[in-house]
Amino acid sequence: MQVWLVSGVVAVLFFALWLLVAHLYNRRSCLKNDYEGHGQKVSLPAAPLSLAIPGPPSLPLLGNMLELMQEHLPNHLTALARRYGNIYRLKFGNSTMVVLSGSDIIREALVKKWSDFAGRPHSFTGDVVSGGGFSISLGDYSDEWKLHRRVVHSALQRSTAESLHSVIQQQALKLRQVLLEYKETPVDLSEDFTVAASNVITTLAFGKQYEKTSAELQRLHGCLNEIVALWGSPWISALDTFPLLRKLPNPPFSRLLKEVSRRDDIIKTHLDGLKLGHDAIKEVGALTDFLRCQNRPEEDTQTLKLTDTHVHMTTVDLLIGGTETTAAWLNWTVAFLLHRPEIQHRVYEELCSVLEARYPEYKDKHRLPVLCALVSEVLRLRPVAPLAVPHRAIKNSSIAGYFIPKDTVIIPNLFGAHHDPTVWKEPYSFKPERFLDGGASLRALVPFSGGARLCLGESVAKMELFLFTAYLLRDFEFIHPGANECLPDLTGVATVVLKAKPFKVIIRPRA
Ligand code: HEM
Ligand SMILES: *[C@@H]1O[C@H](CO)[C@@H](O)[C@H](O)[C@H]1NC(C)=O
Ligand SMILES: *[C@@H]1O[C@H](CO)[C@@H](O)[C@H](O)[C@H]1NC(C)=O
Ligand SMILES: *[C@@H]1O[C@H](CO)[C@@H](O)[C@H](O)[C@H]1NC(C)=O
Repeated sequence: MQVWLVSGVVAVLFFALWLLVAHLYNRRSCLKNDYEGHGQKVSLPAAPLSLAIPGPPSLPLLGNMLELMQEHLPNHLTALARRYGNIYRLKFGNSTMVVLSGSDIIREALVKKWSDFAGRPHSFTGDVVSGGGFSISLGDYSDEWKLHRRVVHSALQRSTAESLHSVIQQQALKLRQVLLEYKETPVDLSEDFTVAASNVITTLAFGKQYEKTSAELQRLHGCLNEIVALWGSPWISALDTFPLLRKLPNPPFSRLLKEVSRRDDIIKTHLDGLKLGHDAIKEVGALTDFLRCQNRPEEDTQTLKLTDTHVHMTTVDLLIGGTETTAAWLNWTVAFLLHRPEIQHRVYEELCSVLEARYPEYKDKHRLPVLCALVSEVLRLRPVAPLAVPHRAIKNSSIAGYFIPKDTVIIPNLFGAHHDPTVWKEPYSFKPERFLDGGASLRALVPFSGGARLCLGESVAKMELFLFTAYLLRDFEFIHPGANECLPDLTGVATVVLKAKPFKVIIRPRA
């Protein structure tokens, strides 16, 4: 505690010192910039590429740093878009971030000009959590990264085709069993969705599933959650902005290092177990096993190959990318359905009339439009990765006619795109029917982002969302616990993942 306090005070002092230095430095460069800006306006009056991207006024010292410290960042960035447009910039010291808040503009940058914006910004703390940039999600664009992503993508497609459907069905039935045991008492579904989503991934990755009470599962999720939460904390992000602070004791950062090494130990134990062949369930070809077989660089005569570190970080990518997102989405679905119970009745009636008594399969998708509309509407209102992951311009380029210099950080504001009033009628209302009456187009929906960095688990996620929801709504009715409980809050808590606040629900089995 003492050390923590001392280092806190020291950190604040350093921060103050930095502000002073930055202030002096900035005053000089502001003068210079004013002059240059002026000169440019005179020489190139009308060319759109010379216009500055609009954005909120920036403070001399902090730039627009305060804008990033808002409690619900996706909401705040979306409010700024209403004022400054679907493309605006935020400044930090000498770097610039560009926020894109419309689906057309996001498509232009990430899909049409994918090779210009496929990079990731480098950061000290990102390197710490990604084993030095070896993960797919945080690794920068390079030949090695392309190979890594391509191999994992084809491995995922292979396991999707071979076993994903039955793996999800099995987890959905297991979830059903757990929910039946609650016997209509008000419960917090906190862990059950996480366990179901995580079991799908661990079965794919190393042919293993866990019980909710398993100490190993708790340990794994404990440390993954902790890493995601700590990584977003200001004490840790300060390390990226102020390198000097890295020399000081910083207890949250030490915790982060400890959790990262715990995570690595757990995953290593699994991967070693697989190597020796005890762990794998034979009928499910473990994806990581397949990846390891790709280690031999036969076709590539160059030195490109996937190392054990790549396989290890792939497991982390899939666990982090595939668990919290899916679980948070299921949470949101239940929360919205409590606000509009008639929607679950419509889905239930559709399931009964189309399927009669059997359980749904993914290929029934086209015959279940109401269910699909529900899935789309929840993805629209609560894209669970609301700001995707920051991209980096890897060369000079342009977006919407504005010049974007190399190394600009691009934030795809998916949440903003899904609340754009020029595209969606009543953007803030939960109305699955907008997808049924032809009023809303799926094209404007970008929950998985797009282009070179499109969510790697998109097809896994889509099958999970569809099947889990179908199984849940076929077997159960979700009921609000009654007068003395408020309906669930729909604002949520935004970290990397947009989560619902805890709420309780009664789960009543259908006749
Ligand atoms: C509702 C479910 C999900 C949503 C809404 C979602 C959304 C996203 C988004 C928005 C990104 C960032 C794309 C960008 O940087 O532009 C992303 C990246 C990623 N997701 Fe998902 N995701 C979901 C489920 C999954 C699942 C189930 C997996 C794994 C099986 C997964 C694995 C990944 C990986 C590995 C990346 C990094 C891709 C890269 O940087 O190249 N996600 N996801
Ligand atoms: C400012 O930019 C230069 C190069 O563009 C970089 O080396 C330096 O670290 C940056 N300073 C800060 C405080 O980000
Ligand atoms: C990119 O744009 C900058 C101006 O911001 C310019 O100085 C630089 O030469 C350009 N680089 C290339 C490769 O065109
Ligand atoms: C799901 O909701 C519960 C509250 O009902 C909460 O405790 C839990 O953290 C949520 N899980 C996710 C992944 O958002």
